[in-house]
Amino acid sequence: MTEILRLEAFCAGYGKATILRDVNLSVGEGRALALLGRNGVGKTTTLNSIIGLTRYQSGSIRLQGVAIERLAPERRVEAGVGWVPQERGVFRSLTVEENITAVARPGRWTLSAVYDLFPRLKERERNLGNQLSGGEQQMLAIARALVLNPKILLLDEPTEGLAPIIVEELLKAIRRIVREEGMAAIIVEQHAQQILAITDDAVILDRGAVAFSGESASLAADQAALSKYLGVSAVGGEVLHQT
Ligand SMILES: Nc1ncnc2c1ncn2[C@@H]1O[C@H](COP(=O)(O)OP(=O)(O)OP(=O)(O)O)[C@@H](O)[C@H]1O
Ligand SMILES: [Mg+2]
Repeated sequence: MTEILRLEAFCAGYGKATILRDVNLSVGEGRALALLGRNGVGKTTTLNSIIGLTRYQSGSIRLQGVAIERLAPERRVEAGVGWVPQERGVFRSLTVEENITAVARPGRWTLSAVYDLFPRLKERERNLGNQLSGGEQQMLAIARALVLNPKILLLDEPTEGLAPIIVEELLKAIRRIVREEGMAAIIVEQHAQQILAITDDAVILDRGAVAFSGESASLAADQAALSKYLGVSAVGGEVLHQT
């Protein structure tokens, strides 16, 4: 298996604080990794570190074998790290189409390919970024990351705060991106059971360290790990939140 991204003994934080401690993870070509864990364990910090927005302490981040942990964020984007920030980062005063074409680079993912993936965006191509619903903004944020034709896509809670029907639409698109198009991806998600169904591998973080690393299918069946680290129990495929 060709490796796209690997973090090895990676430590980073903000200011003097260490948040990530000895994180090891790897994403292979065409594989999607679910990054899970309770609030505040360091999931966003992990993605922020891969794009270069945290203070590096030690360890390595390799993109197809090349060390990137000391590069500036824009160099990492050029190198092929595709990032969809939690706050989505859509240009509010540009149209949908301008938002996409402003960043596009040659490759498989073109304007028409992302319109095919998200027909809603095509319908909204002349609308401004600030006229979109939350779900449409998320689709646009993903479209913008895709047209940069990255080697790996980092998604931070893509379904957060969205209506169930939009969540379903987004998860379907994400499944298509990783399953049919073979895009390597790391996806942070609160909906553990849903995301485990569309990813290959899973990592659970607990207080900045890796608490579980394995295949998504085995985690989905591991009631003890789900309950201990995520506070959810899997019953007949449904996730029941413990109160
Ligand atoms: N900019 C920052 N400066 C200092 N500390 C931060 C900063 N951002 C996050 N932290 C701290 O880092 C730790 C990890 O936060 P992070 O946002 O990575 O967690 P998370 O797993 O993404 O949580 P959530 O599920 O709530 O999004 C937390 O203790 C948080 O308070
Ligand atoms: Mg977060």
